[in-house]
Amino acid sequence: MMLKPLVTALGLLSAAQAIDPFTWNNSTFLLHGKPYQIIGGQMDPQRIPHELWSDRLSKARSMGLNTIFSYVYWDQLVPKPGEWHTDGNNDIARYFKTAQEAGLNIVLRSGPYICGEHEWGGFPAWLSTIPGMVVRTNNTEFLSAAKFYIDHLGEELKDLMVTNGGPILMAQIENEYGSYGNNHDYIATLRDMMREAYGIPLYTNDGGTQTDLDGGQIAGALAETDGTPQSGFAARDKYVTDPSSLGPLLDGEYYITWLDQWASNNTFETDEGDESAISTATSDLAWILNHNASFSIYMFHGGTNWGFQNGADWGDALEPITTSYDYGAPLDESGRTNDIYHAVRETIGAHIGMDNIPDLVAEKPLIEISPITLKPSVNMFDALPDPIHKTIPVNMELVGQSYGFILYRHVTADATSGTLKTGDAPRDRVLVYVNGKRVGVIDNSYEVPNTVDLTLKKGDVLDLLIENMGRVNFGSEIIDQRKGIVGNVTVSETVLLDWELYTLPLVSPPTASSSTGVTKDPSVESSPIFYTGTFDVDEVGDTFLELPGWTKGVVWVNGVNLGRYWTVGPQQTLYLPGVYLRESGNSITVLALEPNGSEGSVQGIKTRNWGNNPDPDMSS
Ligand SMILES: *[C@@H]1O[C@H](CO)[C@@H](O)[C@H](O)[C@H]1NC(C)=O
Ligand SMILES: *[C@@H]1O[C@H](CO)[C@@H](O)[C@H](O)[C@H]1NC(C)=O
Ligand SMILES: *[C@@H]1O[C@H](CO)[C@@H](O)[C@H](O)[C@H]1NC(C)=O
Ligand SMILES: *[C@@H]1O[C@H](CO)[C@@H](O)[C@H](O)[C@H]1NC(C)=O
Ligand SMILES: *[C@@H]1O[C@H](CO)[C@@H](O)[C@H](O)[C@H]1NC(C)=O
Ligand SMILES: *[C@@H]1O[C@H](CO)[C@@H](O)[C@H](O)[C@H]1NC(C)=O
Ligand SMILES: *[C@@H]1O[C@H](CO)[C@@H](O)[C@H](O)[C@H]1NC(C)=O
Repeated sequence: MMLKPLVTALGLLSAAQAIDPFTWNNSTFLLHGKPYQIIGGQMDPQRIPHELWSDRLSKARSMGLNTIFSYVYWDQLVPKPGEWHTDGNNDIARYFKTAQEAGLNIVLRSGPYICGEHEWGGFPAWLSTIPGMVVRTNNTEFLSAAKFYIDHLGEELKDLMVTNGGPILMAQIENEYGSYGNNHDYIATLRDMMREAYGIPLYTNDGGTQTDLDGGQIAGALAETDGTPQSGFAARDKYVTDPSSLGPLLDGEYYITWLDQWASNNTFETDEGDESAISTATSDLAWILNHNASFSIYMFHGGTNWGFQNGADWGDALEPITTSYDYGAPLDESGRTNDIYHAVRETIGAHIGMDNIPDLVAEKPLIEISPITLKPSVNMFDALPDPIHKTIPVNMELVGQSYGFILYRHVTADATSGTLKTGDAPRDRVLVYVNGKRVGVIDNSYEVPNTVDLTLKKGDVLDLLIENMGRVNFGSEIIDQRKGIVGNVTVSETVLLDWELYTLPLVSPPTASSSTGVTKDPSVESSPIFYTGTFDVDEVGDTFLELPGWTKGVVWVNGVNLGRYWTVGPQQTLYLPGVYLRESGNSITVLALEPNGSEGSVQGIKTRNWGNNPDPDMSS
């Protein structure tokens, strides 16, 4: 680093300059001409409070990692067309500088499609308002939107590229594209776009099968696999024949455990305490290391889907990802090490020498917060924004909204009765109210959602409060991820026309002063209520918020949206990092979407709870 400017100043063409700073031959990566085995792990800056980046990165180093793999979320950086936001957790350049200071190199995974169980796989919601847009194809509209993002990111990270003396070694094109399609023009276009914007070596990462590799591989980019290393490497050796895609083997995502989805019957994915699962993982990692190959553990540290950033998978129905993205990772959601961390550290140490791994980083104790009494403060329906009138309801993206909730209100013109249909599908969870009383819940995360039968009299007010539970991040459903209502709302055969739309992105909760009414006592039929309270702590520290008796909703502490809670589980507590607390005068707001009179307090505990409860809306 010190030598380079000196040499340039002297105008000499040294041997060091003639060597590509990062390249490879067929058996190894070469960093500044020396063999470099990537001992990597995945950790995404936008899922971690920026105040904690340095802590998490130094813990990656102390597990023995030399490289961090990071996805970048396009939707957070470009929340509106033409805007570019790099504040707070979106300051990707600062995160990478922090990684460099911690002694880590970087592999950039900037998509534009990233999957990652993130909202719409990283796509900004506004893409679906652009006529002619088809995501993940060689489509002019898509490529032009992607280019804005890639070019801006390239500019932002310019000084950090390995070609300019920085720690970013290479960048991934798209993400497991071969499991989705095989349009090589599209991947080639992205390759050229990234080559121009980043100027560093590129690679593709696909599943370890012939179809995946055939679909994803592109000339001039190293082809790599993820998943089971033994079969993935064998597939790469067998099916990739283009010499310009050959090079050392990298398992771009070695899964120790798996992601979590909300559902009464989904249990928390973890290997903790499971000796045999941990030994399978460490023997796979040792096998990779002994074959002079490279890996990235997915996830090294998962973090949290703050606010409404979670994505969803699609099985037979929507499978929304939990707020916690703990992933059973070696470094847990709260940045604490577990059995897996120590086992992996030993494995890496056995290969590179324990002396080459920095000492463990000390961990601060967690804190408890005694029960905080919360009082009903604002009824959501008394604190609505100005409505937007539409004869036929439109989806939330068309009224400029990306995340959160949207309310559709209709005043019955002619009496009607029958089964309610909210457009082409529930997108995603529809709370149905007549004259302010909840009469049903239609939820697209069930293969067969509940049906709601209505009898509407002239003048009855029908409210449909619709929650975007996370856009699908994987599979063919990714094409259409509009939320709210698409199509007509009907009761029996009657089309209901004339709607007031109220956007409720809930970036911050409404305050009592924005409310027009006095909050009534909650009952099982109540419309959503924001509860508020204040609390002090003896000492600031990390904690897990437990919400006994609360069904479903969202929590804010000191204005930070900690994410969704849902009694169904498996997540039963929300991570509250100490960096969001102060010693006195902390404020908390909890949205109870389905208040039933049982809620009243929230407490902070030191050990997370995982578990399940039946969905009260499906048991009837
Ligand atoms: C890898 O081997 C192939 C086949 O022998 C050769 O064509 C290619 O140039 C080699 N790649 C590198 C990066 O050395
Ligand atoms: C790759 O480079 C390393 C380090 O220079 C060398 O030991 C190895 O033989 C090379 N492998 C191939 C296939 O060229
Ligand atoms: C793919 O898109 C690029 C950029 O718009 C364009 O130059 C190229 O012609 C397209 N290829 C095909 C086969 O449509
Ligand atoms: C949970 O229940 C749903 C619906 O019955 C079923 O489709 C799914 O496979 C179950 N999941 C697990 C993990 O058992
Ligand atoms: C890995 O590299 C070492 C040192 O270059 C060499 O002795 C060994 O044979 C290689 N192992 C494999 C499986 O290629
Ligand atoms: C919605 O209803 C209106 C009025 O009946 C009709 O003109 C329109 O075609 C319907 N739209 C759809 C998608 O069915
Ligand atoms: C309210 O909901 C919670 C969570 O689902 C449940 O534990 C509690 O029993 C319910 N209370 C009433 C009065 O229905």
